[in-house]
Order: sequence, then C-alpha cells, then structure tokens
Amino acid sequence: MSTTKRVSVITTPIYYVNDVPHVGHAYTTIAADTLSRARRLGGQDVFFLTGTDEHGQNIERIARERGISEQEHCDLISAAFRSLWVRYDIRYDRFIRTTEDVHRRGVLKLWGLLRGAKTPDGKDAVYLGKYSGWYCPRCEGFKDEEELRQPDNVCPDHERPCEWTEEENFFFRLSAYEGWLRETIESDRLRIRPDSRKNEILGVIKQGLKDFSVSRARVKWGIPVPEQPDHVLYVWVDALSNYITALGFADDGEAYRHYWAGGDERLHLIGKDIIRFHCLYWPAILHAAGVPVPTREFGQGFITRDGRKLSKTTGNVIDPVALVERLGPDAARYFVLREAPYGADWDFTDSAFVGRYNADLANDLGNLVSRALTMAVKYCDGRVPPRWEPPLPEGVGPARAVDFTEVFATSVCAPADGLADRVLDRYEEIDFSSALTELWSWIGQFNQAIVQAQPWSLAKDPARRGELEAFLYRLLEGVRLVAVLVSPVMPRAASRIFAMLGLGEREPAPGDLAWGRLDPGRPLGSIVPLFPRVERDGVPKKETPVSETTPPPAPKPEAAPTPSPAAGGDRIDIAEFAKVELRAARITAAEKIAGSKKLVRLQVDLGSEVRQVVAGIADAYEPAALVGKTVVLVANLKPAKLMGVESNGMVLAGSIDGKAVLCSFDAEVAPGTKVK
Ligand code: MSP
Repeated sequence: MSTTKRVSVITTPIYYVNDVPHVGHAYTTIAADTLSRARRLGGQDVFFLTGTDEHGQNIERIARERGISEQEHCDLISAAFRSLWVRYDIRYDRFIRTTEDVHRRGVLKLWGLLRGAKTPDGKDAVYLGKYSGWYCPRCEGFKDEEELRQPDNVCPDHERPCEWTEEENFFFRLSAYEGWLRETIESDRLRIRPDSRKNEILGVIKQGLKDFSVSRARVKWGIPVPEQPDHVLYVWVDALSNYITALGFADDGEAYRHYWAGGDERLHLIGKDIIRFHCLYWPAILHAAGVPVPTREFGQGFITRDGRKLSKTTGNVIDPVALVERLGPDAARYFVLREAPYGADWDFTDSAFVGRYNADLANDLGNLVSRALTMAVKYCDGRVPPRWEPPLPEGVGPARAVDFTEVFATSVCAPADGLADRVLDRYEEIDFSSALTELWSWIGQFNQAIVQAQPWSLAKDPARRGELEAFLYRLLEGVRLVAVLVSPVMPRAASRIFAMLGLGEREPAPGDLAWGRLDPGRPLGSIVPLFPRVERDGVPKKETPVSETTPPPAPKPEAAPTPSPAAGGDRIDIAEFAKVELRAARITAAEKIAGSKKLVRLQVDLGSEVRQVVAGIADAYEPAALVGKTVVLVANLKPAKLMGVESNGMVLAGSIDGKAVLCSFDAEVAPGTKVK
C-alpha cells in the first residue's frame, strides 16, 4: 500500500423516505462504513456520506394518505434512518437530506451550469422537448412499452398500471455523450465493478442511449425549475446531486473542493437496481456541467429470503432493527459482510446467522481472545509478558505486520509480507468476505498454535518460563492485530478487545498496525465475554465445564464499582463536572417499551446525530406529548440496556410526588447545544 495520504469520498445511495428502512439499506451502509473505517485505519483521508432522498410524487401521496405534511413525513422517516445508523455503529461524516436548503441551492447551481452547457458537437446539453410515454409514479420513471405487462400496461416492478403521460419537458442530451461514456468506462477511468455490472452498462451503451427528460409537471414536492416554476426537477437529477451538494457545492465549500474536486477517488456504492442512473446519467450530467465525475462505482448484490425478492406482499422482509437487536451490531455487520461476496446476490437465513455467530464469533474469535487473556492472567500475573525480540533476518525492516506462520511454527519472528497489508488490500477491493476469510484463517492458526504449544504444560516447567512468555507475548500481539484488522467490520468488539489488553476501550488507529505495540509489564484489563454462545433461537447458552487441557473459562467481568453518592460536604471540582457532557436534545419520536410501566424509548436529535435513549418517564408523560420537546441529555454515558433496549444517554428530570418532571429550557435552543 502506498504511504501518501489518499483522499476519497465514499457514498451510499440516499434512501427513499417512502417507507421505514430496509435491510438492503443497512447492507450498503454497513459496507460504506466498513470501507471508510478500513481506509482511515490505513491512514487515508475519507469522507463518508449518506442521507435520505425526500422528494417526489410518492412522498406527496404517502404524506396525504397519512394526513400529515410532506415535510413532517420526511422528518419522521429520515430520523428513523439516522437512529438505525446509531444502532449499527455507523459513523458517517455527513447525513444529507434533499429537503435541506443547501441541497436546493446546489441543485440549482448544477442546473444553471447544465443550461449553459454544450455537447461535444456544439448543441445545447439541455433542451425543451415533448415527452409522451408510460410513466410509473412508483419508479418515478418512464417505462419502455415492451417492459410493461399486459393488459393494463402494468409496471413489472410495482405491479401497478402505468399512466400515459404527455408533457413539455426539459431533456438532457444523453445521446451526445455515448462515445465519452463508452471510453470512460472501458478505460476504467470510471471503474465499474463487479465486471458483470460493467459489461451490463457497456451493453446498454451499445444499444444506443436515449435522451431523458429532466423536469416533471404534476409533481409539486420537489425543486421547482426556475424557467418553468410549475415543473420540478426530475427526482433522479435532484437525488444524484446530493453527492456534491452535501459537500458544499452550492458555495464551492472547503469539503467540496478537498474531497470531491481535489480528491483521489469519488466512489459510489449502489445496488444493482440503480446502476444505470449512476453509471450513465450521473457521469454524463457532471461531465456536461464541467464538474469532476465519479471514479469508481460498485453494484452490490441483493439479499433475498427463501430465494425470493424481499417484499412486504410476500411477507419475507428482514427488519433491520430486529436484526441488529438480536445479537448486536457487530454480529449483524459481520454476518452480512462475511456471508457472501459483496457483489453477489445471496439468501438470508436465520440458521446461517446464528450458525456463523456461534462458529465464527463465539467459538473462533471469542475463544481465542478469552484463552489468550486467561492464560496471560494466570501465568503472567495479569500483565503483558516480556517482549521477545529476535534478531530480524537481514534485509527485513520492522514491517507493520508479521507472518504468523513463522512466528508460531519456528522460533524466529520474521516480519514479512504482512497480514495487515493483505487484509487492508481486500477491504480496498471492496471484497469484505475475503478480508474476513483471510483474518479467520489466522484466527484458526492461532487457536491451533495454542493446542500445539500447550502453554499449560510449559507453565509447569520453570526452565521453560522464557518460552512460555515469548509465546504468550506473541499470542497477545496476534490477538491485538486481529482486533485492529477486524475493527472496520466490528468496531465495538475491537474496542473491547483493546480494553482487555489494557490498551483502554478505544478504537484502533493507524499506528496500531505495527507489530509489538504491547508494552511488557502493562496490566491487562478485565476479561469480558465477547460473544456468548446462543441457541438456535438466539437465547444465550449455558457454558459447558472445561477440562484439564482446555484453557480455563474467562473470569466473570469485574463488578462495576458502586458510585458513591455526593453526600454532605463531598464536593467535586469543576474539572470533574466538565467530564459530564450535557446537551440539548430534541425528541423526535417516543414509544412505550412493551412490558414496562415507566420506560419509554426516545429518538433524540442532537444536531449532528439522532440517538436512541430510554427514559423512566412513561408514568408522567404520554409518548405523543414528548415529541417536539427539547430536553437535557447526559450525552457521554456509556450505552446501557434497559429491558433489553439500548440507551445512549440519560434524560435529566426532577420529580414531584414521585412523578418525573423533565428539565427544559427557558427559550428554544438548537439541538446539540452544550449545557454548561
Ligand atoms: N433514492 C434512490 C437512490 C438515489 S441515490 C442518488 C433509491 N432509494 S432506495 O431506498 O430504493 O434504496 C435503494 C438501495 O437500497 C439499493 O440501491 C441498494 O443499495 C439497497 N437495497 C434495497 N433492497 C435491497 C436488497 N434486497 N438487497 C440489497 N440491497 C438492496 O433507490
């Protein structure tokens, strides 16, 4: 891997707010988050963008059916996406909503450039024309007659009749960019993967590209076309523009200049359903407008269930909230990325999910971590053993990763072509399942090495103390490197392994890729079970007793110290108080937690993120009355589970006659404002 700091933008599609989030949305977002984290780990400068697509006829219709305004509807669903991303430990840099003003201004700027643009043969890139055709309001697009099912001209995707539509529209002259697109894609200046998607797009170009209309009459919920205010811009032009408007295209902002215009890579992760829009329309529009075009696009495969497309009608949908709540975010993220190559379609089954959890996480990884740490605690007094520093073979520098085959098979620790580079390269190729397979083959070898080295026998012979310590040091280092390399996929587990290694509960950083980071003598942290085994139905399993030759089980996590109440004269100084982060939080959604009289699940907006918080105020407040209130949140509390529901903070309240009374503000303050 190169040492220069690459700059890149990684995007997901912005998701329609016509319905609550879908597991496919989670799939792309987990992938983008993993790639962003892997790149940051490799020292790269990354901007990760996601968001919601909020305009169009469908939203108008759904809001009308729900009896609320379009904006209210968008606010609710967009908040549901943000709160889902909190649950999945997604760390984006920007969440764009197409109803933001900065987006509207950016789209109009792009429109202005297109209106002035000329095609390579000197014609207007955008022109007024007449459109007639079969329009599917659900697809927000015109359909070719041969695609429709008869009778009634039914859209094959939505199984509803299309409408015959005639209107005067603005058109984008896509046909004029055929040659440029072919050349750009064939040469991989726009690198489309998997190859099957690239070939599909080249096949579409071969058949000849048609101009497409970029304005729509009859739709009100959108961005009005300045020259034709009763029309709005076509929802796809509006939506695709998010990739630059979110970065500050409207004002030629710093992020736009650094990451988009000046970056090394502009990468879109998309579903195979929307590759034409992304690989043909979008690059051509940008090229015509004189704006840098994407450099890479990856079409992910689709998740099916029981071999069928996920659909509410069939009733085989996979609820992404239930998925993440079942075995936690790390397990859900791991499963979707490990189960199949990212570009391929694959079938989700519950038994595969639980099976992989038990085999890969509880057994392979969980056991390795618990065995290595338990032995270090037992044989090395709970401290990192002395480092064993063999002379490096000639010509080999202290590379940042080690060939573990040699480490464990022989007594020579030879930093060679490393595991870290191989795994990071796989991430870089957007081949998550191979990255994980590679890592798991090492985990397997470590587990094997323990059996072969038999540290418990070495421990019985004082003459072999050096060997024992050398082995355990290398084993702990191996565990540490596994945590570092798995952190893009399982950030939570990685931080917990770091805590157990005495490195503090933090996320791995680029410097952690170097071998030998554990300082001998440093106390190890307490051992906590990482992935307790579960039964097929997801219920925790009773652990079986261990035998002589199997390593002892992980000790119980230490009980948390009971906080001492600040009694009488026990005062704290300002520095201690400053550790508590209090913020204004706006409640965007509230619902009672089933089975509890007091607990309510809240979604709170903190300006830069939406979080889920559980509060014991249901006996004093109706959930509906809470929505819209701005309250005070302790924002830096560690997550805790109440009745099995995760809470990421605590809402402050007093009480009158035992009933909660929320703390509030005297005047409206913006969500996220620090309370001092
Ligand atoms: N709003 C447009 C995208 C505009 S981007 C400028 C849109 N939104 S969507 O909500 O329908 O999301 C589509 C994306 O969700 C797909 O491209 C894909 O990434 C993901 N998936 C939806 N269903 C899926 C599966 N069953 N499996 C995997 N991913 C799928 O289109």
